[in-house]
Amino acid sequence: MIVGKNLRLRALEKKDLPKFVEWLNDPEVTENLLINHPFSLDSEEQWYEGVMKSPMFERPLCIEVREGEGWKLIGNLSIMDINWQYRNAEMGIVIGDKTEWGKGYGTQAMRLYMDHLFNQLNLHRVSLLVYETNPAGIRCYEKVGFKHEGTLREAIFKHGRYINVYVMSVLSTEWKKH
Ligand SMILES: CC(C)(COP(=O)(O)OP(=O)(O)OC[C@H]1O[C@@H](n2cnc3c(N)ncnc32)[C@H](O)[C@@H]1OP(=O)(O)O)[C@@H](O)C(=O)NCCC(=O)NCCS
Repeated sequence: MIVGKNLRLRALEKKDLPKFVEWLNDPEVTENLLINHPFSLDSEEQWYEGVMKSPMFERPLCIEVREGEGWKLIGNLSIMDINWQYRNAEMGIVIGDKTEWGKGYGTQAMRLYMDHLFNQLNLHRVSLLVYETNPAGIRCYEKVGFKHEGTLREAIFKHGRYINVYVMSVLSTEWKKH
């Protein structure tokens, strides 16, 4: 468990899947995600089986916030394609509970996770891709210390138009100063 002030990151459990399916079938949540097709609990369960066979560090973590005496699941985050030789990886985050957007939880969860990636897993570079049409995401990543390092021009097609995608990253050396 990675614990912050009023937010924690915990391991994924099978019981979380129905919530994930609900979020990922919500067009507002998936507006800036690489998800263009409705999908089912069955396909999410197949994904889960694959995830459980992947290296532990690449399994998503659930984001939970304090709710009364308990905790409420609001999203998840993960890294993929860890390269242990160069110590880099790409990350992604979803706050699927729309009622919790704009409360600083995305930023807080990312800060906790980045600290874990740099100071526990000893990664050197963490990157992500974000659509130009996602100002909340871009702002959140900038607050955490990510820098815009390039643009994949018209790399995505959505709603009948092409969208630029930003590559952003943060290095362990920058993180220490952050
Ligand atoms: C992107 C996401 C992770 C951000 O999490 P969050 O908890 O809502 O973000 P935070 O509250 O920590 O920070 C958001 C920042 O963006 C700003 N923001 C929100 N909407 C904005 C807009 N339309 N234009 C400019 N800034 C905006 C907020 O004001 C805040 O900045 P501030 O603290 O300086 O005021 C979350 O909204 C989400 O998961 N969305 C759906 C899935 C998604 O887009 N994932 C990321 C894919 S790359």
